[in-house]
Amino acid sequence: MSVAPVLQRIDSNLPESIERLKELLRIPSISTDPAFKADCDRAADWLVADLQSMGVTAEKRPTPGHPMVVGHIDGPGPHLLFYGHYDVQPVDPLGLWDNDPFDPQLEDTPKGQVLRGRGSADDKGQLMTFVEACRAWLAEHGSLPCKITFFFEGEEESGSPSLVPFLKENADELKSDIALICDTGLFDSRVPAITTMLRGMLQDEITITGPSRDLHSGMYGGAAMNPIRALSRIIAALHDDQGRITVPGFYDGVPDLPDEVLQQWEALGFDHKAFLGDVGLSELAGEAGRSALEMIWSRPTCEVNGIGGGYQGEGFKTVLPSKASAKISFRLVGQQDPHAIRASLRQMVMDMTPKDCKVEFKAHGASQASVMSIDNPAFEKARVALSDEWPDEAAFIGCGGSIPVAGYFQSLLNTESMLIGFGKDDDQIHSPNEKYDIESFHKGTRSWARILAALSDK
Ligand code: BES
Ligand code: ZN
Repeated sequence: MSVAPVLQRIDSNLPESIERLKELLRIPSISTDPAFKADCDRAADWLVADLQSMGVTAEKRPTPGHPMVVGHIDGPGPHLLFYGHYDVQPVDPLGLWDNDPFDPQLEDTPKGQVLRGRGSADDKGQLMTFVEACRAWLAEHGSLPCKITFFFEGEEESGSPSLVPFLKENADELKSDIALICDTGLFDSRVPAITTMLRGMLQDEITITGPSRDLHSGMYGGAAMNPIRALSRIIAALHDDQGRITVPGFYDGVPDLPDEVLQQWEALGFDHKAFLGDVGLSELAGEAGRSALEMIWSRPTCEVNGIGGGYQGEGFKTVLPSKASAKISFRLVGQQDPHAIRASLRQMVMDMTPKDCKVEFKAHGASQASVMSIDNPAFEKARVALSDEWPDEAAFIGCGGSIPVAGYFQSLLNTESMLIGFGKDDDQIHSPNEKYDIESFHKGTRSWARILAALSDK
């Protein structure tokens, strides 16, 4: 079974592949918002039907949250587990979108053609690169060069609450020789990448209550504690002047990077001025003395993702609010323990909360960082296959984002993950006007066809 005619078929079928992706993008599968539950279900149904149309045995599998999609197709080579997620982030602020986020449109830009819409890059477009590669193999040769299990999740963007129980219950069915995850990016538009390090994640929500009701700030201001003032003081104390995080014990388990990794990253010639310039900034804001790639790929962070309290409407209201809240997340690396950090953060917040105020916490996601073992021969095979497709050689890179499933495949299925994706830094994932380059979609699909061939040694 040769890959050349598969690549040709991918080229000639590109318009139909784009139409299929548009269909999936029209389904608003926002997993975090219960109002879109039926849409998440519909996206899972769409994927099941699409896999079945290719001859894959596929079904929607219920969970207490949104369903999983699992499909199997036999083949001679190694058993590959392919993972992608069909859920998407909310679209707010809707006013900043130039078009309906769920009415995807092709658009010509100075950097090439893009498909714009929520989920185009994260992760529906990426998920479909793999599906389209399999479709082309099957159409051309009638079978695949490897045995494949498709595994699509619908809760990735909302902390994957059903993932661990599902993996535990279905471990025998999902266990494979290697997992392929398509949810990361290229290094740049010439250099494809295999991501070998992912950061972990800890999310906590803090609510401080002061007075029992909103008050007139003229009548009570000065005498009554304002919970926004208490919360701001706590948030301001989370970093020191050097950009280090002050939660006690936070840096336990953070490794020093080996010199050779640092040199390898140095050699990538990452232009942090351009990276920040693209988003209207110029100065690195992380720990003093670290490079941008170190900050994003190998150092832990603390970010406030949302903050609320008091009057936020038009005009002005002299209110002394009863409550203030913040959503805070930490990106973790190395052996940092999310549960220990959650406990330490909460202790620090309680110690700093004024006596008269009450603090409540709501736990969200917690996952450890993961590092892939690139000595598995599949990594070198995939690296060569990617380098054949793209202008420059593929690189092993880190990733600032978190994809908890990679760690769970390792710990629960004893299956190593290889992370290959085709997103770009300017895809605006999780933001208004998200897009996926047609080049990413097309060359991504071609890349998977080559990787399937390489992994099966065909
Ligand atoms: N696809 C992203 C992960 C990602 C981000 C890869 C940036 C490459 C660059 C994924 O869907 C995602 O956003 N994950 C969340 C996980 C969190 C909710 C546990 C993240 O990283 O914030
Ligand atoms: Zn994603």
